[in-house]
Amino acid sequence: MTNKTDRIIIFDTTLRDGEQCPGATLNIDEKLVIAKQLARLGVDIIEAGFAFASPGDFEAVSKIAQIVGTENGPVICSLARAIKADIEAAAEALKPAVKGRIHTFISTSDIHLEYQLRKSRAEVLAIAEEMVAYAKSFMTDVEFSPMDAARSDPEFLYQVLERTIAAGATTVNIPDTVGYTTPSEFGAIIKGIIENVPNIDQAIISVHGHNDLGLAVANFLEAVKNGARQLECTINGIGERAGNASLEELVMALHVRRQYFNPFLGRPEESQESLTNIDTRQIYKTSRLVSNLTGMLVQPNKAIVGANAFAHESGIHQDGVLKNKLTYEIMDAQLIGLTDNQIVLGKHSGRNAFRTRLKELGFELSDTELNKAFVRFKEVADKKKDISDWDLEAIVNDEIQQAPDLFRVELVQVSCGSNARPTATVTLRTPKGEELTDAAIGTGPVDAVYKAINRVVNVPNELIEFSVQSVTAGIDAIGEVTIRLRYESKVFSGHAANTDIIVASAQAYVNALNRLYASLQTQEKPEEVTAQKV
Ligand code: KIV
Ligand code: ZN
Repeated sequence: MTNKTDRIIIFDTTLRDGEQCPGATLNIDEKLVIAKQLARLGVDIIEAGFAFASPGDFEAVSKIAQIVGTENGPVICSLARAIKADIEAAAEALKPAVKGRIHTFISTSDIHLEYQLRKSRAEVLAIAEEMVAYAKSFMTDVEFSPMDAARSDPEFLYQVLERTIAAGATTVNIPDTVGYTTPSEFGAIIKGIIENVPNIDQAIISVHGHNDLGLAVANFLEAVKNGARQLECTINGIGERAGNASLEELVMALHVRRQYFNPFLGRPEESQESLTNIDTRQIYKTSRLVSNLTGMLVQPNKAIVGANAFAHESGIHQDGVLKNKLTYEIMDAQLIGLTDNQIVLGKHSGRNAFRTRLKELGFELSDTELNKAFVRFKEVADKKKDISDWDLEAIVNDEIQQAPDLFRVELVQVSCGSNARPTATVTLRTPKGEELTDAAIGTGPVDAVYKAINRVVNVPNELIEFSVQSVTAGIDAIGEVTIRLRYESKVFSGHAANTDIIVASAQAYVNALNRLYASLQTQEKPEEVTAQKV
């Protein structure tokens, strides 16, 4: 087999490792929306979840396998500890996928063996071999990860890899679980594996890494130069602690600098052919979707997808770019799907124009979704003269946002100003269909609205993040509000967009409270869930 493949395989783990960061929890419908977009983006493999972790995770993997795991779609993968029950759950959840993969793992570093697993190297070796063979009895495509590989004894790592490949692993993934390694060290680990694992040509070498020292992407690129051919990454780099290696940064580095990377993949230096299967024009949209649905904001200076990534403030730079873009720009914003944000529609635009533009922007909505989005579009168009592509995207993302519809905002009214005590009245429809109204005074209008909502919903929580961003410039711009709140040890996020930011604030808060409320109803205790996740 082929570590000699001359392209890079993109394995997206946004829905598994990415979803593990506090507050990024997604429900099944949201996962499905993201999985469909990942397929449009062109990722080769979607790690859809950890089927054994909870009934919700199982259902999400199974649904994504069924709907996105089609003949021409990506491989759908489920994580599984090196435990029979985990592997069985993964295999069962993946059944509907045309192409499925079981990804099983066990730690190999001495520190994990001694303190976490309390097992000897010999025991771990035997378990890894046996569980890969067990996974292989369900599926031909099996990936094995020696967790904390970057801190494992290389000799032991070689042994584990040789035995798991012999047992049937078709991909061996080398995780830098704690984000500890540096680029040259990581490159050397991959080189060592190629030189010391006799049957390594029978498996693809993959890498997985966390960004604790901000080195994950650099580590991966060095791994590619040394023979790694699969990259495990997430959209916007979301994930545990400082996150995972960011998909968009990896893909664009490989694209913009392909002449540098070509020879490492056995291609002629001047080849213009893409090194990945990713449709880069889908990157920006995917980033916005993941940010909106997870409530994980993208920092403005984030490479590739940050709001400032293509903005030139300095006079010298602006002058250069006006004379010739190449003076200060290494890539065109359109490459990642950042359009010129044309003004496309207005209040007289009909359903057909609306549908056509959404299609051009790459949104495939069902009739029901389209109808909902159209009603919303008309409301916005009544208040905002020109509707741009970015407004449309905000409207659609907001409409397909799948926070459980338990409490619904029916009315928000505030009174505030200088020398006034900010006061809010809210009416919410409860899950039982009653309309409840309450009022409160706050330090400002949003505080007053949140206090009034809390009086109705009555679930203690702490607001830990509140952010407002405007979708476009202009006084009538749509405002997007993202909030995160904490209940005991768990974080819930909410997002909403509206031309009135007080209404958007109320809606975002109620969306987050609905997630909290839903999790209380399913009795999914935060500690239990995180204990099972990796
Ligand atoms: O970070 C890690 O080691 C993981 C493994 C399960 C691959 O996420
Ligand atoms: Zn990880």
